Amino acid sequence: ARHLALIPAAGVGARMEVQMPKQYMALAGKPMLRHALDTFAAHTRIDHIYIVVSAEDAYIDEIMAAAPALQGRVTVLRAGGPTRQESVRNGLLAITAAQDAEADDWILVHDAARPGLNAALIDRLLDELQDDPVGGLLALPLVDTIKRSNQGRSQLTVPRADLWAAQTPQMFRSALLLRAFTQAAAQLDAITDDASAIEMLGLQPKLVAGSPRNFKVTLAHDAALAEFFLKGNE
Ligand code: CTP
Ligand code: MG
Repeated sequence: ARHLALIPAAGVGARMEVQMPKQYMALAGKPMLRHALDTFAAHTRIDHIYIVVSAEDAYIDEIMAAAPALQGRVTVLRAGGPTRQESVRNGLLAITAAQDAEADDWILVHDAARPGLNAALIDRLLDELQDDPVGGLLALPLVDTIKRSNQGRSQLTVPRADLWAAQTPQMFRSALLLRAFTQAAAQLDAITDDASAIEMLGLQPKLVAGSPRNFKVTLAHDAALAEFFLKGNE
């Protein structure tokens, strides 16, 4: 089975409060998207990469033109939807409609907004899941004490031992992932990651240890932290 990366990059980055979509803002010398893209492209166990952007995207052509080494290794799909989950589903549908993926090929769905992905994390995910019947995701055990709120007051402390924060890549066989998204179609608004769609089938994705460096750049101050980590990687 092959390993195909699918990068949803059709968001607007509203919470980041910058002019351009956050996946294109410069971080440590190149557009944010290029970090995860280059990491996948340099990885010998990744067979091909698909990026999902919006139909009216004004940045991706220039980014691809500036990276001739990526030609032939990356396919840009102008198939973005109004939510992350619709972008992922549209990407999956485009890949399968073109018969680019076999049923047992692995799809690694990865947020364009996680520039801190590295080869060791990809290897760990692939190694831990290669014989897994379900698939799984990178995730981190929570470190904070978690409160359930009731009208602005702390009602109770939620035991944190079983709580993990989901990261990406999230890796599932293409046929299973497509079935999960088809089945979850009516509830796509309620889910914010790919593993949730799998859970709705009654399956339990494996949790594989991620890294704090692989955090999602979401709020304005996150850019400085991402640059701090990315510059340390060089
Ligand atoms: N994404 C997407 N299509 C959408 C929304 C999001 O492909 N309609 C992608 C983003 O580009 C990002 C990833 O999904 O790589 C994670 O989403 P998020 O961090 O929420 O990014 P945005 O939706 O762009 O940010 P915000 O929610 O602050 O607007
Ligand atoms: Mg969003």
